[in-house]
Amino acid sequence: MKGKYTTGQTGARSARLRLAALAIILVLMASAAAGCSGEKEESKPQRLILGFSQLGSESAWRIGNTRDIEDKADLYGIGLMLENANQKQENQIDAIRRFIAYKVDVIAFSPIVEEGWDNVLLEAKKAGIPVILVDRDISTETEGLTSCLIGADFYKEGVMAAEYLIRKADSLEKDHVKIVEITGTEDSTPMMQRQAGFMDTLLADERMEVLESVNGDFLKSRGAECMRYLLETYGSEIDVVYSHNDEMTLGALPEIEAAGYVPGKDIIIISIDGGQEAIDVLKSGRINCVVECTPMLGSELMNTAIKLKNGEEVEKVIHPAETYFSDEQDLSAITERSY
Ligand code: AHR
Repeated sequence: MKGKYTTGQTGARSARLRLAALAIILVLMASAAAGCSGEKEESKPQRLILGFSQLGSESAWRIGNTRDIEDKADLYGIGLMLENANQKQENQIDAIRRFIAYKVDVIAFSPIVEEGWDNVLLEAKKAGIPVILVDRDISTETEGLTSCLIGADFYKEGVMAAEYLIRKADSLEKDHVKIVEITGTEDSTPMMQRQAGFMDTLLADERMEVLESVNGDFLKSRGAECMRYLLETYGSEIDVVYSHNDEMTLGALPEIEAAGYVPGKDIIIISIDGGQEAIDVLKSGRINCVVECTPMLGSELMNTAIKLKNGEEVEKVIHPAETYFSDEQDLSAITERSY
């Protein structure tokens, strides 16, 4: 028993020693590890996390816009949390709330409509997270809920479309021009601004008459439906189709042809966006004018997010440079589009 006890005593002591040694090793390893990670955190700035709520994927424009934002986030080394709202405002609001809960550094979103954002943006403000509007604008009761807007000047796009039409009417020596308009999503900035810019410019010219404006929701299928309705209602009276995006234009063209008219000749076609497919159709003569709206907003978005994270001032409104392409120009000069 004694021997066993002694042996037990010795065993217990050496076990205690082994445990103490192990504890020291673990403490040393832990502090070495802490030292290492501490060193890394000091030398390498934390990756910026950007939460972006895209409104949907209704058009080639939108798909190109999403792709560009993903590509540029990669390029700038920014962690992108991307959510697609599938055309529903409530999905965008939920996504913004998730970004707040996740404590992202910056929130960006492309609002489907202008109204209804006050509450969620007040929550973002309370959380101290800056918000960037991408592509479309909003209207809020409280001032200063967003840092800036990066997107096209939609009003100017409408003006460019109308100015083209006035020149076209001059060249065709027309004294009465009857127009139908296929608009984008109700209550969205591009819908309202493209209409306002077009009408303000056009209706100063007495030759112009707008027969009807119908809502095509920026969708190809709706563009076709709208065109069918307009042709059934106004038939050969229609001189011009002004469509708020390429997608709806591309939906409308086969309907015009099926009704026996030649788009680009019997009916003047004016579109907005300038995606590759519409440019090809413009070159073939079935569209007369395409006003450009670039979806390539990724670089501006990443640069602005970095500035906001660093507490720097940013410009309130950033409009990319845009132009128009028409049958008045040498179209061979147009470079390949990426959307
Ligand atoms: O907000 C931009 C518009 O939205 C584009 O013109 C259209 O194609 C898109 O769906």
